[in-house]
Amino acid sequence: MGQYQDTYNEANKDPSAFWLKQAKDVQWTTFPSVGVNTDNSPFNTWFADGEINACYNAVDFHVANGRAEQLAIIYDSPVTDSKRTLTYAQLQDQTARFAGALKAKGVSKGDRVLIYMPMVPDAVVAVLACARLGAVHSVVFGGFAAKELAVRIDDSTPKVIVAASCGVEPSRLVEYKPLLDEAIDIASHKVDATIILQRPQCTASLVEGRDYDWAEVMNSAEPAECVPVASTDPLYILYTSGTTGQPKGVIRDTGGSVVSLKWTMSAIYDAKPGDVYWAASDIGWVVGHSYIIYGPLFHGCTSIMYEGKPVGTPDAGAFWRVIQDYKVKVLFTAPTAFRAIKKEDPNGDLIKDYDLSSFKTLFLAGERCDPDTLIWAQEKLQRPVIDHWWQTETGWAICANCVGLENLPVKAGSPTVPVPGYALDVLDDNGTPVKRGEIGSLVIKLPLPPGTFPNLWNAADRYVSSYFSRFEGYYETGDAGYIDDEGYAYVMARTDDVINVAGHRLSTGAMEEVLASHPDVAECAVLGVADDLKGQLPLGLVILSSGCDRSHDDIAGELVKRVREHIGPVAAFKSVAVVDRLPKTRSGKILRATMRSMADRVAWKMPATIEDPAVLDEIQTALAALGYAGDGN
Ligand code: COA
Ligand code: AMP
Repeated sequence: MGQYQDTYNEANKDPSAFWLKQAKDVQWTTFPSVGVNTDNSPFNTWFADGEINACYNAVDFHVANGRAEQLAIIYDSPVTDSKRTLTYAQLQDQTARFAGALKAKGVSKGDRVLIYMPMVPDAVVAVLACARLGAVHSVVFGGFAAKELAVRIDDSTPKVIVAASCGVEPSRLVEYKPLLDEAIDIASHKVDATIILQRPQCTASLVEGRDYDWAEVMNSAEPAECVPVASTDPLYILYTSGTTGQPKGVIRDTGGSVVSLKWTMSAIYDAKPGDVYWAASDIGWVVGHSYIIYGPLFHGCTSIMYEGKPVGTPDAGAFWRVIQDYKVKVLFTAPTAFRAIKKEDPNGDLIKDYDLSSFKTLFLAGERCDPDTLIWAQEKLQRPVIDHWWQTETGWAICANCVGLENLPVKAGSPTVPVPGYALDVLDDNGTPVKRGEIGSLVIKLPLPPGTFPNLWNAADRYVSSYFSRFEGYYETGDAGYIDDEGYAYVMARTDDVINVAGHRLSTGAMEEVLASHPDVAECAVLGVADDLKGQLPLGLVILSSGCDRSHDDIAGELVKRVREHIGPVAAFKSVAVVDRLPKTRSGKILRATMRSMADRVAWKMPATIEDPAVLDEIQTALAALGYAGDGN
């Protein structure tokens, strides 16, 4: 048996013993005596009697153990033409001071702090400062609009909000402060204070008595020490898309996160302390939390923060330049980034212009990795390319080729095998395991390993109903797929209304709510249709209210604008058609899957339950007008 299988079996046989062993690899103020407690399943806890501080593990421990002068963060920003580095000692100094600044604004253990910042090192400082105080951070991605921000303010009820004056996209400056002001206006919860990082690209106006300048509060701050918290105390809340417009606040606990992320750095990514690790994502997503900030820092690595795109900043060689300049060993990004690079530089000519000798492995996640993209990356880079599958809910990979344990053969289209800790199964609609090779719901037998999600913020009922009620004793991932004869998993599609646009997780249900709120819209459906670059794109079909005789183009334009304003530009909602009817079952359920197959030009069958098959002809015409057309059944 290889090391992967040995480790998998060990973790499966006695999860508590396995993870308590890994727990010895991190720093505790009180080492736990218990592993998992399943008395109140699915609300399972890990290391319940342990006490720990995540910031100490990420920063102070390394300063005290020979890494003070090693770079912790390298910031490279082609969009602002600037670079900056922070050693572990500098990161400790800034984090301790910013923690002091938060403390001076009344923040203490358990309080929430909302962080709305772009990819700048100060965002890492803000996150770690919260962890230092035992406060709970909730980072909101910069591409979300004011309304989404307001929903998160009301749900997490932060004491303080930390934001920057602006984000910088290649084509425009995104002023964050007006969005923040609008969100604070809309939200019912009122924050005590905001701290605003004024970036040189734009200066935000501050509201006297509420908004404070980052530089000023830092100047007068007294450094704060790490506050030990219970292992089960929340480290952060990260909102993610569900079926409705109300996002789910995924909670990550503290001890489980430190232990699991530290372990994955070597077991999955084969990174050693001191290595340069680059997750080309955003701190607003789970990948950013786990692998721009916490994982690499827990492991004593140097983490790259890249404020730019894979193409256009300035070209498709951007990733290779960063790898060369900073001797990156591991790169982690989404397949969409590689599709973008492949489109611009199909032969990979730019790769040859750079010295990539430090580069060992490419990891891809965030969306299904199409075999073409995987094979292109393998051929052009001549390095292992590892697709791995995970979710905001799990915080780290469910399936991967754990190259730090054993390098298994790669099969294009599969994120390889379950990572030790995850007992993956495939069930049919009745909850019966299917045969190997058959598609069903991908589920994980409880208990979930440490560092996953012990609950949803303010939504314990939803936690149970969304994830644990359909299949007793299992976590329902919301993904469908199969496991082949050799135990390799294949993740094929979501079973809910979640779509994946350029690696960003979005809810079609939330977009439908926005469309339905337009006064001229009587009914609507939003589908995620296949896109060569972004994987999926949302497409809206709307029925107008009776008597509405306004121009369809005007209404379509208003709807596109409305989604951008309510959800944000990241939704990339640009296609909408007005139709007379939507196809429905006799019980009134809209046949979204059939319309999606038509739009994607894949074979589809006339649903037996359809109320009126003729509606599909009308839909076909509308889709064709938008550039999508089905093959018929
Ligand atoms: N703040 C404000 N706006 C943002 C933003 C941010 N942090 N991030 C993205 N946006 C905006 C973009 O400006 C764009 O707006 P536009 O409609 O005015 O052009 C829109 O949101 C969509 O952005 P994006 O998804 O980045 O698409 P793109 O067309 O600009 O670039 C890719 C396409 C493939 C290059 C890009 O999506 C990419 O690099 N993806 C990598 C995947 C990734 O990081 N995934 C995270 C999970 S691992
Ligand atoms: P997020 O919570 O934003 O990380 O998105 C999680 C969802 O993205 C998963 O439930 C999958 O639908 C999809 N996903 C992530 N990684 C992969 C992968 N490697 N293969 C297939 N789907 C993936």
